[in-house]
Amino acid sequence: MSEHKNPFPGENNTGHFWDDEQDLRELNNRPPRWYMQSMLVGLVAIVIYSFYYPSIPWFGDHYKGSAGWTQITEMKESVAQLEEYRERKFAATEQAIADSSLEDIVRDDELRTYSIKTAKTLFGDNCAACHGAGGQGNDGFPVLADDDWLYGGSLAKIEQTIKNGRKGNMPARMLGITDAQAAELATFLIETGKGAQGNPNPASKALYFSKGCIGCHGPTLKGNQMLGSANLSDGIYRFKAEDQHASVVRTILHGVNNPVDAQTQNAIMPAFGHSNVIDAVQLKKLVIYVHQLGGGDPVKPAPKKVAVSKDAKYAPVIAKSDSFADVIAAAEANYKKNVAQNSGWRDTGKLIKEAKKTKDASLAARANTQAVNALRQASVAVTAGPRF
Ligand code: HEC
Ligand code: HEC
Repeated sequence: MSEHKNPFPGENNTGHFWDDEQDLRELNNRPPRWYMQSMLVGLVAIVIYSFYYPSIPWFGDHYKGSAGWTQITEMKESVAQLEEYRERKFAATEQAIADSSLEDIVRDDELRTYSIKTAKTLFGDNCAACHGAGGQGNDGFPVLADDDWLYGGSLAKIEQTIKNGRKGNMPARMLGITDAQAAELATFLIETGKGAQGNPNPASKALYFSKGCIGCHGPTLKGNQMLGSANLSDGIYRFKAEDQHASVVRTILHGVNNPVDAQTQNAIMPAFGHSNVIDAVQLKKLVIYVHQLGGGDPVKPAPKKVAVSKDAKYAPVIAKSDSFADVIAAAEANYKKNVAQNSGWRDTGKLIKEAKKTKDASLAARANTQAVNALRQASVAVTAGPRF
């Protein structure tokens, strides 16, 4: 580009032309007013922003801002909002779980599914460290996802376990067992556990009996769920080890939870029911969750509700008050209905007579209760067939 004499003297241009026709020229105008004003507004915003929010760096720290804002508090606030939303949304279901028995929760598709879904996190937070993420167990911590239970797989037993904790006890060196005898017993148990493939020495069974193992593990080695003494006949070991024989020998020589033996097998399930780690509803959810992991005892279907007849002739007359006159009137009316249906108890008639003679309000109330019960029974008998 070459220098020219400015061919547009009346114009505030810089004298630069970008093409030969000189219609692309660089002018020297002030920026438009709207542009300058937005710049100013921006500047003011920066000052205000820097005042309110964390901004200016300062020797390994920074100005914290007057509003006290941090990313962490903002996150905490949104998490709290989310929690509150969840609580509102699921309050009814949580309440239903609180009000229902464990059996009823299992029977109810919605409550069961909800319990299992929400218990997953609870299990991860409180149980997985010992029992594994899916309840598959760890060395020293029993598998929950099978039907081999130390203490039982009914809802009630699982609830007891989680609520009160468990601590199995097995003595060390029962009746002075020698190392050789422990090794023999271990071989016997492992071979028995192999089932049809196993080759247990029948002679060792005498040792098993004579050393008192039978007292807790039973004559068939099946264990006793009241004691939590493991089933020794199934080849499933709650104290698993690479060298299973050595581990069984160790159990026999050093016992389980034996406080005076440093090599004892430790097996303590903490109690969760009396801590503030989980609440009553969370405990129920965990019971349902563990029960369905595998091998929970089946829950019986709900007993059928007996249909009660709505027929007016079975509807009891309600006493207007607790006064003798009102109660005896109700008792007589109800007994009359009994007699009409041939369903009265003879005793009721006598009670009414006696009550009228003595003016005894409690006798009258008893007569009335009898008459009302007879009405209920009669109505059930009509709809469900005779049951008594
Ligand atoms: C510190 C480790 C530990 C934690 C945490 C733990 N458990 Fe246990 N749990 C054990 C041990 C050990 C046993 C076996 C106790 C015994 O042998 O006497 C056990 C036993 C059980 C049993 C009985 C199993 C059977 O076969 O009868 C259940 C059910 C159970 N735990 C559920 C849970 C649940 C649910 C949680 C979480 C709320 C949990 N445990 C947390 C260690 C733990
Ligand atoms: C006082 C009762 C008691 C007596 C007696 C007893 N045990 Fe036990 N035993 C237990 C209990 C309880 C457990 C399970 C502990 C636990 O898991 O919490 C157990 C566990 C075991 C285990 C571990 C099983 C596994 O799954 O890993 C073996 C093996 C065993 N016992 C063998 C024996 C032998 C052999 C004898 C006889 C010398 C014997 N026990 C006597 C109560 C007893």
